[in-house]
Amino acid sequence: MTDRPRVFVTRNLPGSALDLLRQTCEVAVWPDELPPPPGELRREAAPSSGLLTLLTDRIDDALLSAAPNLVAVSNMATGYDNVDVDAATRRLVLVSRTPGVLTETTADLAFGLLLAAARRIAEGDRYVRAGHWRTWGPEIMLGPDVHGATLGIIGLGRIGAAVARRAAGFAMRILYTSRTRKPDAEKDLDATHTDLDTLLRESDFVSVHAALTDDTRGLIGARQLGLMKPGAVLVNTARGPLVDQDALYEALRSGSIAGAALDVTDPEPLRADSPLLALDNVVITPHIASASVATRSEMARLAAENLLASLAGDVNDNVVNPEIAADWRAARPGRLAG
Ligand code: GLV
Repeated sequence: MTDRPRVFVTRNLPGSALDLLRQTCEVAVWPDELPPPPGELRREAAPSSGLLTLLTDRIDDALLSAAPNLVAVSNMATGYDNVDVDAATRRLVLVSRTPGVLTETTADLAFGLLLAAARRIAEGDRYVRAGHWRTWGPEIMLGPDVHGATLGIIGLGRIGAAVARRAAGFAMRILYTSRTRKPDAEKDLDATHTDLDTLLRESDFVSVHAALTDDTRGLIGARQLGLMKPGAVLVNTARGPLVDQDALYEALRSGSIAGAALDVTDPEPLRADSPLLALDNVVITPHIASASVATRSEMARLAAENLLASLAGDVNDNVVNPEIAADWRAARPGRLAG
């Protein structure tokens, strides 16, 4: 490449990612904590060859059509449901993501949320702060045991498997559903493959780790919640719209399940008047599963590397639409690395 491509980064990033981009690119960074509004994003995308985006940025056909120079979008997340990949593919824009680097950190939070909901940790903290703690009581704040319970994992990918490894330390029985069976995981994790209904009926804890697609939106609705045990706890660290939130509210309110722990909601942020906020049996965190210092720097670095690779026509495993590689290269011979 002879010219320095312009890239737009939709938020300031931790670690060395921006320096890495600045070595070879003209870099513009959105300075605010909140995402650029759609009009600003379009204005910044219009002259850019590359975008480094977050899951709060909608990369849709309208945005892509306003950015004729765009060749690559690098999403700093493992999920990419904020990007219209079909539209990007039609326009020969490479889309990449940051899988792998956040697996263990995300599993830490999922397991932490599971423990918090079961053992009423956040609720106990509120109770103490509100001045309700008057004595040690044999019936105060009782919850289910985690050790030895059955954990159902919906989606045994990298993160689901990492949650299962943690559960093994708690002597939990592990059930899972997945698009494809995972014989290695079944052996290594002593996990049993079931259909979704069986998993929901038999699990004491259900942890959701599916990608959000047209097929999985609303995967856990009223019927599915109705199959769960009255003492069961639902944990969602994947995407809010996988769970029908109104149905979840009703299940939690009526006691048809015991609790929930959500790092993701629909919408995000959760509306201030969401009825979920009035319930004590739900723990909610603000989409922070990957938010360790080291992991966020790693995600940013990988997103920057992915963007540089894609700008040079180098289609690595993190690209989600690699099928356009040949057409991309044919359309932009001047951009090829080397
Ligand atoms: C976070 O939700 C991610 O997809 O990385």
